[in-house]
Amino acid sequence: MSPLELVAENGLRAPDLTGDSPLAIRGMTVSYGDQPVVYSVDMTVRQGAMTAIIGPNGAGKSTLLKAALGIVAPLSGQVTVFGQGLDATRNRIAYVPQRASVDWDFPTRVSDVVMMGLYGQLGLLGRVRGLHRDRVQACLARVGMQDFGDRQIGQLSGGQQQRVFLARALAQGADLYLLDEPFAGVDAATERAIINVLHELRDEGKTVVAVHHDLSTVRSYFDDVFLINRRKMGEGPVEQAFTVPALQATYGGRLAEGQVAQLALDAG
Ligand SMILES: Nc1ncnc2c1ncn2[C@@H]1O[C@H](COP(=O)(O)OP(=O)(O)O)[C@@H](O)[C@H]1O
Ligand SMILES: [Mg+2]
Repeated sequence: MSPLELVAENGLRAPDLTGDSPLAIRGMTVSYGDQPVVYSVDMTVRQGAMTAIIGPNGAGKSTLLKAALGIVAPLSGQVTVFGQGLDATRNRIAYVPQRASVDWDFPTRVSDVVMMGLYGQLGLLGRVRGLHRDRVQACLARVGMQDFGDRQIGQLSGGQQQRVFLARALAQGADLYLLDEPFAGVDAATERAIINVLHELRDEGKTVVAVHHDLSTVRSYFDDVFLINRRKMGEGPVEQAFTVPALQATYGGRLAEGQVAQLALDAG
């Protein structure tokens, strides 16, 4: 859908596509087979905010991120990053995929994984210098992994692997961070370490978007929320968009009674 069609449909002014939103998606439809798994989704991410993407399993959350990054080809839709196309902005985006989707048997040292974050600046054949090694070390330290640089990535725990992938994203020095379930299967100490770093990034004016599955921490971790179940089900600041009716619409019968009651209480 073009911005003009949006105006016609809503009778409202459409958000400016060429504005400087860190990530703006318009009319995104993605299909792996006959059935769209993401249908006509619009999303506008707020600069300097932490946004949670939430929705049930199979809702298309990972697919939406991958389509935004050009990893999967959408049937239709437009993506702008800081008001420009992906080609111009790719090196301003850091992506931390869902941990389960990475092949951990691949023999790679932790420091080399983080060094990959610097390839955009180095060029593939650029010479690795002391300053690059220092930067890798500093990024590992920021996630509490400074003593693990020489380990094989496959030998680390799930939480440690996740920290290393965050360190790689930090090394990149990106302005927009897209993370797919960064807290899935990690220990409590890692969850705290990761959320602290993400909040620091946010406070530095960076933009963080994370697929998030734990409804009980949405309020304390995130500023904004984007609800999806194949279609967009809601979007906005947590206090406005993270409501029990919106969650019931998004999750349908899959939201347990107890969860709804707790969220209603949290909402005050
Ligand atoms: N590579 C793929 N090929 C075919 N179907 C896929 C593929 N990836 C995901 N799907 C399907 O698309 C739907 C959305 O998947 P996904 O985006 O991973 O959802 P979520 O991240 O919200 O759990 C699911 O039904 C899933 O089975
Ligand atoms: Mg997913």
